[in-house]
Amino acid sequence: QSKEDQQLILMHEFAADMYQHILLNTEEGQAALDYLENRGFTREIIEKNRIGWSLPEWNYMASSLKRKGFSEEELETSGLAIAREQSSGYFDRFRGRIMFPIMNETGKIIAFSGRVLEHTKQEAKYMNSPESPIFQKSQVLYNVHHARSAIRKNRKIILFEGFMDVIAAGKAGVDNALATMGTSLTAQHIRQMKRFAQEVVICFDGDDAGWEAAKRAAISLNEENFKVEVAVLPGKMDPDDYVRDNGAEAFKDQIIGKPHAFIAFAMMHARRHKNFQYENDLLQYIQEVLQLLAGRSSPLERDLYIKQLSVETGLSQEAILQHYRKLENKTIERNRPEPTIIKTAKKEPKRI
Ligand code: UTP
Ligand code: MN
Ligand code: MN
Ligand code: MN
Ligand code: MN
Repeated sequence: QSKEDQQLILMHEFAADMYQHILLNTEEGQAALDYLENRGFTREIIEKNRIGWSLPEWNYMASSLKRKGFSEEELETSGLAIAREQSSGYFDRFRGRIMFPIMNETGKIIAFSGRVLEHTKQEAKYMNSPESPIFQKSQVLYNVHHARSAIRKNRKIILFEGFMDVIAAGKAGVDNALATMGTSLTAQHIRQMKRFAQEVVICFDGDDAGWEAAKRAAISLNEENFKVEVAVLPGKMDPDDYVRDNGAEAFKDQIIGKPHAFIAFAMMHARRHKNFQYENDLLQYIQEVLQLLAGRSSPLERDLYIKQLSVETGLSQEAILQHYRKLENKTIERNRPEPTIIKTAKKEPKRI
């Protein structure tokens, strides 16, 4: 770790302590503390996750950090302050937000995500630190530092969409929980996850965006040979909503405890927004599912899901199987390696 990186981490650690002090011990932090209590955050959760509050002032953190001896260059690189465009000087990036520290694998703070108290359409609900020498969004998973031992013990990762969900899951004792920082799952995320476990339960939000993201994540993880399951939430709920409405125990038993196999989930996904009264929808559904099976399934899975398809659509297993074989042949054709052309040495032209 370079000297520069160490300085940047020191700034984040200092800022987090200050944000938390403001949240817990000052008049100015009271509204945010009430908000968090309303959402079920206990003192223990707040302290474990080092949550804080940034004052709604233009120049509080920047001047505190400068007083602490950090340079203007360091201020800007950290992303905690932004250079003014019209005049000289800097202003705070995070103002009037609940501050969630993002920690690296060793538990050092490398970035923040700040949530507004009242979410209006005018501004983003969450503001994240920009990329910096110590923070690359496409590589960081929230909660790695806390979750690592639980992941090793359970041999399984529970992957959420947001860090609020990770924190909610913690109330249910689901500690092997990770989340991306609002990006889709990248190859780097997957490589990092590989180091900890071979099994993942994806538990994303129940809205359309969540279903789409879950499908993409499931395919990527499946391609990287993870055993993939997907836990599905009722309606448009997210895990945090579910815990609030039904309690942590129910979340653990009914949602996390009853995940769907990858293909079963993909079938649910393919059925969404389809009406089998329409033959187009029906045929498209069968096509989607068989395509998926042709790419990856074992003979047992194939048999199982073709039976299920037949029950769902009312078409015969024989017809479905025939169509499947056609798709499978195409898939094999596509995946067949190019024949290697063996070059033979050109013969010398015959001299006449
Ligand atoms: P969600 O919109 O599902 O947030 O975004 P949430 O976790 O349910 O939060 P609450 O319950 O409304 O407070 C999921 C993730 O997407 C990223 C964040 O990382 C968040 O955890 N995100 C979302 C952003 O980066 N910016 C946004 O404005 C919104
Ligand atoms: Mn969401
Ligand atoms: Mn959500
Ligand atoms: Mn919400
Ligand atoms: Mn939420």
